[in-house]
Formats: sequence, C-alpha cells, structure tokens
Amino acid sequence: MAPPPFDVDAVLAALTLTEKASLLSGVDDWFTQSFDRPGLPSPVPAIEVGDGPHGLRKETGIDMVWVPATAFPTASAMGASWDRSLMRRVAAAIGEEARAEGVQVVLGPGVNMKRSPLCGRNFEYFSEDPVHAGELGAAYVAGLQGTGVGASLKHFAANNQEVERTRISVVADERTLRETYLAAFERVVRLADPWTVMCSYNRLLGVHASQNRWLLTEVLREDWGYRGAVVSDWDAVHDRVAALRAGLDLEMPGTQGRTDAEIVAAVHAGELAESVVDEAARRVLQLVARVYPGPAEARGPVMALGHVAGDRLSAEQLRLLHADEHHELAREAAAACLTLLRNQPAPVTETPVLPLTEEASGTVAVIGAFADRPRIQGGGSSGVDPTRVDSPLDALRSIAGRRIVHAPGYVHAPKNDYQDDNPAVFAAHGLSMDDDRLRVRRRSATLVRDLQVAELVQHAGRLPLSDTARDLLDEATAVAETAEAIVVFVGLPLSYEQEANDRVSLDLPSDQLALISRLADLRERTGASLTVVLSSGSPVAMDPWHDRVDAIVETGLAGQGMGAAIADVLFGRVNPSGKIAETFPLAIEDTPGFPNWSGERGTVLYGEGVFIGYRWYDALRRPVRYPFGHGLSYTEFDYDDLRLEVLDAVAGRVRVTCTVTNRGSRAGAEVVQLYVGDPDAAVHRPVRELRGFEKLRLGPGESAPVSFELESRDFAYWDSVASRADGRTGLWRREGGEFRIEIGSSSRDIRLTASLTLPDDPTIPALIPDAELLSVTSSRFVDGHAAQL
Ligand code: BGC
Repeated sequence: MAPPPFDVDAVLAALTLTEKASLLSGVDDWFTQSFDRPGLPSPVPAIEVGDGPHGLRKETGIDMVWVPATAFPTASAMGASWDRSLMRRVAAAIGEEARAEGVQVVLGPGVNMKRSPLCGRNFEYFSEDPVHAGELGAAYVAGLQGTGVGASLKHFAANNQEVERTRISVVADERTLRETYLAAFERVVRLADPWTVMCSYNRLLGVHASQNRWLLTEVLREDWGYRGAVVSDWDAVHDRVAALRAGLDLEMPGTQGRTDAEIVAAVHAGELAESVVDEAARRVLQLVARVYPGPAEARGPVMALGHVAGDRLSAEQLRLLHADEHHELAREAAAACLTLLRNQPAPVTETPVLPLTEEASGTVAVIGAFADRPRIQGGGSSGVDPTRVDSPLDALRSIAGRRIVHAPGYVHAPKNDYQDDNPAVFAAHGLSMDDDRLRVRRRSATLVRDLQVAELVQHAGRLPLSDTARDLLDEATAVAETAEAIVVFVGLPLSYEQEANDRVSLDLPSDQLALISRLADLRERTGASLTVVLSSGSPVAMDPWHDRVDAIVETGLAGQGMGAAIADVLFGRVNPSGKIAETFPLAIEDTPGFPNWSGERGTVLYGEGVFIGYRWYDALRRPVRYPFGHGLSYTEFDYDDLRLEVLDAVAGRVRVTCTVTNRGSRAGAEVVQLYVGDPDAAVHRPVRELRGFEKLRLGPGESAPVSFELESRDFAYWDSVASRADGRTGLWRREGGEFRIEIGSSSRDIRLTASLTLPDDPTIPALIPDAELLSVTSSRFVDGHAAQL
C-alpha cells in the first residue's frame, strides 16, 4: 500500500474547529470535504464514495444514472455459493473497477440477518445465519480492501425490514442482538477490519442507530476493538451532536454546513468536548489518507478519458475496466450460485430430468420473459448499470440451436430494469403512467417514483389476468405443445425486491402462477418434462405448483453473467453446487416473527429471540419447503469417518474431521456444513447452529478430508446478566457439559453425528444460580434503554 499522502496528526493540529467540524459530513452525496490553504502542512484531498455492493454504482451527477460497471451476483446469490475465495475475487474485481472509475470507498457489504423473507432488501444480504454471513462478508472486505479501496460494512445494526425503516424501533433483548443481529458484523470487524462501518436507519430500543452510543461505541469500539470510521446511512442522522457523542464520525450526505455549525455551537456552549470532534476528525483523516490513491490516479483512468452521463463506455474504457475478464468472472460466480432445489426422475427413463442432453433431438420450449431479459439484480441503491447482460435464451440457443423454441408467457413488469419506463408495459399491467400515485413528491424523484411503481406492481401482480396476459398464456402453451422438455423462467419482478419497500406476500405474480399451471397441465398431457428456473433474491411460496414440476433451479439475482451460467447448468456443462442460505418456508404464517411483522406503532418486537431462520423451524420441528443449506448436484457425496479431537478442553479448542467422497461419475462441489448443539444449557438454545463450512471440489470417485477447528466461542451463548471484570454486564459463556457435533449436507440432511464433553470455561464467573437470578431485576442493558423507549 502506498504511504499516506499526508501526516494526519500534523494536519489535524493545523485545522480550525470549523474546519474539523466540516470534515465530519460530506460536501454532497458522494464526496468528503477537502482543504487546501496556506498554513496547512499539506492539502487534504476529498475522497469519493460510491454504492455497491454487487458492482460499482458511480453516480454521474444525474439522479439514478450511473457509469457502467460489471454487475456481479447480489449478496443472497453469492451467499448460495458458500465460497469465500470466489467472494474475495469478486470483491477484488469490484475494487479494481472502483479504482478505474475513481471511487475510493465502496458502500458494502451488507451483512444484516434475514429475519423475514418479506424484507425487500434480503437480496442485498447473505444469509439468515451470522457465521455464514460473517465469513462471506469478511471475504468481501478482504478482497475489496486488498485493492486499496475501503469497504463500508452495513447496515449496523438490526435493519431487517424496509417498511418504516427510518423510524422503526427494534425491541430485542441483548442476547438476541449479540448472538444473532450483531454477530456477523463482529466477525467481519475482527477478521477483516473494514475501513468504515455504516450505521443503519432504524432505532434500537428507542435510539436511532446513528445516535446509539451502546452500539457505536460500547459494542463496536470497546468490545470489538474497531478503529475505523463510522459513517451514517444516507440521511440517517437526526441529532448531529448526539450522533457525534455516540461515536458517529462522518455524516452522509452533507447538509451544506447546517450540522457542522451545530457541532461548532455545541463546543462553544460547552456541551461537547472538542476532543470528541478531534477524534472523529482524526478517523476521517485516517480514512482519507488510507484510500486516497494520489492525484494522478484519483479520478480513475476510465473517467480520465471522459464520460457523459447516460453514455456507454468506449472500447478503450472497457479495456481499462477489465470488462471482459470481469464479465467472465461474473459468469463463473453466477454458475457457483445457481442452486438445484429439485430434480425428479422422468417417468420413462427414471433418471433425473436435469441435466438436459445436448445430443438429444427433441424440442426444448423455453418459456418466460425472464429467459430473454433475466432478473439480474434488485432495486434501489445497489443497482448497477451493467457493461453487458447475457441472455439465457441466446446462451441456450448457442448450445441447442434450433431445438430451442420460445414464447414470453407474460409481460415484464414495469421497471424490470432501470431502462424500462414504457407506457405499453404499464398498460399491460393495468397501470397508467399518469396515475396520481406516481406523481413525484420528494427529493430523489426517480427513486420515489420507483417505490410508487413498486407498490403498484405488487398490487397488480395479485389482480385477475388482463386480456394481454391471457393471450400470452395461450401463445406459450401452443409453443410448448410438442416439446420434449419445457423450461419456464419465472421470478419476482424487480419492483418486488426493492430498497425502502417490503414484499406483501411470498407469491409470484398471478400471471406467472397461471403460466406454470398451464404448463403443468401440458406436462401431464404430453409427458414433457417441466423445469422451473426461478429468479428471486428471497424465497417464494411454491404452492400450488411445486409437486407438479420435475425440477427447480433457483438462480438468485445472479448478475450480468447469469444467462450463460443458467444454460451451462441446464445442459450439464456446469454441475450445480449452490445451496440456499435462507430457508424456503411452506407459507408466510410459518416464518419467525410473523405475528410481529412488521411491527406496530413504530415498534417491532423481536419476540422470537435468537430463533430465526432454521433455528426457528428446527425448534418448532416445523416442515419447510427447502431447508437452509439445501442444494442438489448432478453427482452424490458420501460422508464418513467423523473424528473429534479435543485439542485443549479448558480453552474449548476442538478439531473436527471427516471424509467426503464423490460417488458419482461427474466432477462436482459439495458444501460441507458443521453444526453445534448444546442440548442442556441453562438457557433455551437452538437445536443446531452453523459453526463452520467448507466447499470441496471432487472429481468422480475422489475422496478428500475436511477439517474444522472450533474454539470456545463456538460453544458459547451470550449471558446477559453476568458481570464482567470491568463492571459492565454480559459476556460470552461456554457452559460445561455435553455438546453435539453434526456434519451435514444441509441443516436437515445431517450425515454424521458425535458428542463431546467440555468443562466450564474457568475464566468466566460462575453462572448466577436460578434462585439468585430472581432477585436480579433485569440487565443493565435493558434498564439503560428502557428509559428511552
Ligand atoms: C442505503 C445505503 C446506500 C446509501 C447510499 C441508502 O439509502 O440504505 O445502503 O449505501 O443509501 O446510496
């Protein structure tokens, strides 16, 4: 890494209070403050931040128009890859593009937990499990920051719904927060040291995250040792001075000096120590010094060649961006994310319907508008203007040529991508562009309009079918009539998965449901196989069609290379190896927190505690459509020889090994998952919790050992009432006793099980006995915040 371009301490000493305060907010949406005046030891440059996380979104100065960049799979799709090294490579490519386009901090990754499948932003998050999300988040940060570009770990914390996101108050107990909603952030901070952390919009126990001292200082800095800068989410600060005191360094976007003046006034009035301003300013200066690449490179070679908002990049600019290599990487990543959920034997051959055979001669009917224009990403600030997009239909034709026939089957919903503002498309959904509800009301006109479209599109998706929709169904059924195999592309329109909006149900739009039903009737009549290619960033309900189709491939929102990846998987050129990292429930009523979703009167109670995702379904022994960690392959894997070796019983260090064998005739990859259970703890604990995973690539007949090392924390829970040596309350407790170790191919396909016994951790004070516990009224955490509710 290049040496810092200026001496942070010397500059800090030379800045006036007003200048230091002005460093603590942006000059606009994307730039930090710069200084260049006589008397300073050296000038301080501005740095530019830009959205990610799934590709670079460098704004052009025109609202919602971005400089093209490679659109990689979104986090939920990358989560399904369970592949740390792939995540690192993707993030490194995003970092290279950021450098090429002159952006010094990329706003991501997002590691929030998926509490409900309805959250409109689940596609931006990895998982319902903190170890999984923390590992992939750390890989992202390491890959990105390895290129000299800073990450912004977001949205800290407990931002688990979009409805009322700027004011909803999350009410959760400390154990739930520490074990579930903070643990992925903690893992990333400890493993990868992100140079910034972005606080979330919501309130936590009544206090906005941006002003929450417990969160930003006690947990993040004091407990986890974080040294980087805390940035606000955009417009998340309500009281600048309170936020500064709580530990928030950089407010974004800028407020044209309004909040800087509040900081200066508070210092002059003796309400705020100048040392607090100094510390925050130092952290912002350290960030600038760390990421600023020098004047020659700051603008980025792509931008140095000039770019007019809305234009495509020139051939030379694409070369500088490494657009071809990155597109190949996007395709590789997409292939690693695709998850084969179901693959039933065909009635005649009794072999699974996938992969389709390249050598066969029968017609393959490729139905669905997403086959032509795939759903590559979600809506909102993470949207990327892709350098190109592979069409699945073209890719399928390039493999199977004239065997492929196609019909759209349904109309793309409005705003399926960011160029899609066509009045005819609106009309086909029974919507009018002039609808009053679409009138622009707020600052970011386009975004607000998108949200209004999103609501209307979701509403339209539940209405009876229009005549256009019926005609498209008839056409699709006719096209598929003589096919040997039918592949139908369905999924959620972009408007269903959109920042600042949640889904209203788990259902696919009614025209797509009708299409699947028609094709399922056809399958029963003609004997054709029926494969569903499902593109969604979060689970959908599969009733009533699930049992009427032979195969289901979940693509996730897998970025600009997904078209070719889908064709490769359908025809077996790539063996699928994705596994879902979010449970697919049978019905929304089954989901954790359902009765409390999405809160009432400004508050949402996380009454289910630590039991989210598979922890919830397993505790209730409730059936699910597809469990966490599930994904099939075109080969099969055997698991043997589980061994536990206690390396240090007192320190809680245990080595777990087993052997995995590919017993099929194709190469493939398996995600080996390690779960730990603590059946007789003093508190209610989940049946099993993911504590490790490895993705193994094995040739036909090949075996390989897998090894995991567990440490004390992997067996521990958060004890909210125990006192620490420093007088604060709450600590990680590894209670002595028996633990269950499970190795699985999914959370509900456990292949090997063993037990071990560990002693109490002697460094932790003994458990408060039940009798005494009754006299402890509540933890200081709850007392401390109750007053603010
Ligand atoms: C989003 C952030 C994003 C920021 C800047 C906010 O509305 O919540 O994720 O990074 O805008 O676009």
